[in-house]
Amino acid sequence: MNARQRRWGGGLAGVCMLAVAGGALLAPSGAAAGQAADGGVTFTRDVLPILQRACQQCHRPGSVAPMSLLTYQEVRPWARAIRDKTAQREMPPWFIERNVGVRRFKEDPSLSDAEIAAIGRWVDAGAPRGNPADAPPPIELESLEEWRIGTPEWIVELPEPVVVGDVDADRWLDIWADSRLTADRYIKAVETKPSPGAHRVVHHVATSMRWEEEDGEEGGGFLNEYAMGKNGDIFPDGTGRLIRAGTRIRFNMHYSSVGEEIVDRTRVGFQLYPEGYVPDRVLISRHVGDSFDTLDIPAGADNVRSDGYYVLPEPTQVTGFQPHMHIRGKRMCVEAIHPSGLIETLSCTGHNFGWHIVYNYADEVAPLLPAGTILHVIGWHDNTAANRYNPDPKNWVGFGNRSIDDMSFAWMSFFHMPEVVYEQKLAERRRGDSDE
Ligand code: HEC
Repeated sequence: MNARQRRWGGGLAGVCMLAVAGGALLAPSGAAAGQAADGGVTFTRDVLPILQRACQQCHRPGSVAPMSLLTYQEVRPWARAIRDKTAQREMPPWFIERNVGVRRFKEDPSLSDAEIAAIGRWVDAGAPRGNPADAPPPIELESLEEWRIGTPEWIVELPEPVVVGDVDADRWLDIWADSRLTADRYIKAVETKPSPGAHRVVHHVATSMRWEEEDGEEGGGFLNEYAMGKNGDIFPDGTGRLIRAGTRIRFNMHYSSVGEEIVDRTRVGFQLYPEGYVPDRVLISRHVGDSFDTLDIPAGADNVRSDGYYVLPEPTQVTGFQPHMHIRGKRMCVEAIHPSGLIETLSCTGHNFGWHIVYNYADEVAPLLPAGTILHVIGWHDNTAANRYNPDPKNWVGFGNRSIDDMSFAWMSFFHMPEVVYEQKLAERRRGDSDE
């Protein structure tokens, strides 16, 4: 098999090799060896490091998660729930299917099979604490109040504060704000942030832009996603995303009440390149694979498939994607149909309406695609009662903006490059492959 096939997971042997390499990267250092030596898994030595890496950014005081998981005392009552949620891969929220497509992502909190197994063995053994001296030092948790991108030079906030009451049901809101920008600019860094103290009720926020193009068409794109533990995009030097004068910003909010009234006025902050500056690489984020007219989800039906396509006009590197579906959304795959006829699965992911997750590919494996490649987005919806978010399985569902209508498309982020740069990058990848 040649390097090109292997990089694209073109053969089984390649797939297995990658899977092994990925597992080794994610395994907690030393844990496997420790278990082999004395057979017992303990909190301090084996479990705490996993929680530090994958859970505590959310599960700590003042954050959106329902309980803190910093100490043994806090974790112990939740041991069985932790075993179940991790075994089902519901926690941490990250729904990428691990055995297909690209396997390395930026800020991937997901657990390896070995980590999940270790948690299971620990709980089954009675969740022993172990030797306190084995515990790693507490990790430094990112401040909830500070901007990760530095103090922004431009801030757009919700037009009005939102009051989340003490017994409110979960709310999904789309709120628009004027950016007040009077010139086109390129974004260097962007971060979406709840008001100080409001992190507890802001489950997620996805911000996006809308503007009118000269030809009257709607333009815009995805901006940034806030979810605890993952906020703020700082683009690599020379890379930027266009924001046009007069842009309106959409805040797609998910609030969940915490039993006391909390007021939020979420903001999005920007660092911008100087006026007139155009970066070498312009990051594009756009809807890919909409199935506006074709979405047809019968009452009570599961695995209802819809397809959408987008042709890449130039050589492209895909930097990431975010599935967009509503309540009935279940699963999405994105594949690249190369002009050569090769079909490459980029990613498949489950979909859970409670979470809107952006999956950013690690740079060295981010899909590199020739001009003319067709991105193919396949969505599956579940309109049965087994879908716990489904308000009414007896209803037919089609395309629409309300949460109870549905959609299927991916926000895909990518940048184009000239043919020569593409060839260079491809050659670099091939050399990298043969060094493995
Ligand atoms: C991105 C933030 C985030 C991360 C990371 C995260 N959680 Fe959660 N977790 C939540 C939120 C929010 C909930 C509340 C339920 C929901 O909204 O899905 C939750 C719920 C849970 C529950 C169920 C609590 C209940 O009331 O039954 C368990 C157990 C849990 N998390 C364990 C974990 C573990 C273990 C990890 C790490 C391996 C983890 N979580 C990582 C945010 C997070």
